[in-house]
Amino acid sequence: MLWLDTLPSTQSFLKESNLPIGSVVVANTQTQGRGRHGRVWQSQEGGLYFSFLIDTDFRDFSTLPLVLGYSISEFIDSQGIPSAIKWINDVFVKGKKVAGVLVEKTKKGFVCGIGLNVNQESFPQDLQAISMFLADGKKRNRVDVLLELLSYIGRTLEEFKLVGFPKFREAIKSKLLFLEQEVIIYGEKPIVGILQDIGEDGSLVLLTSKGNMKIVSGDLTLRGLGI
Ligand code: BTN
Repeated sequence: MLWLDTLPSTQSFLKESNLPIGSVVVANTQTQGRGRHGRVWQSQEGGLYFSFLIDTDFRDFSTLPLVLGYSISEFIDSQGIPSAIKWINDVFVKGKKVAGVLVEKTKKGFVCGIGLNVNQESFPQDLQAISMFLADGKKRNRVDVLLELLSYIGRTLEEFKLVGFPKFREAIKSKLLFLEQEVIIYGEKPIVGILQDIGEDGSLVLLTSKGNMKIVSGDLTLRGLGI
């Protein structure tokens, strides 16, 4: 494990490095932390920002972000903070984002990046973000948080490798944010529907005016809320 004070991005660092499968890179802050679709990931002091490299030996790898989000959510629950999964790669607490997952495929394997808000005391209003500290008033040792979280992730990935996504489907569904609510998926064009289910392949099933639709990518938002 490599734990540095600051990096542009642990994700870019690991992608460009020659570090072997299993490597974990952590930074206290990032100057160019990034999320999906090239978005900025605010990486100020107090959060946990890390990336790790795993091999590509997975059957259902398109569901990897969802399964990692599930593992993070289980960890956060275990800390006494109830959390939910926002399809496809976010973890929410009290209606705000507490963690995000970014998975990128490279020649060597999957580079998995996780940003978890641990001890931050405030965020800009427009971010709709929360930290574990803001949720329960406890400051945590980030080394302990990382080690515990990595052991959750390790167990989850082992199981995922053995049995694939279907084993996780029900558990993920039961933690899914906006289930049975009217949502908008922003993709090529916006799709409105009631969030009904999560498919065998990790897609979202929406009941739209044209019947059930399977959604494989896009940004999920509660209709009328814009988060
Ligand atoms: C998202 O919400 O779209 C995913 C956010 C992922 C952020 C993490 S922080 C560690 C790693 N390094 C990055 O630059 N991004 C990921």
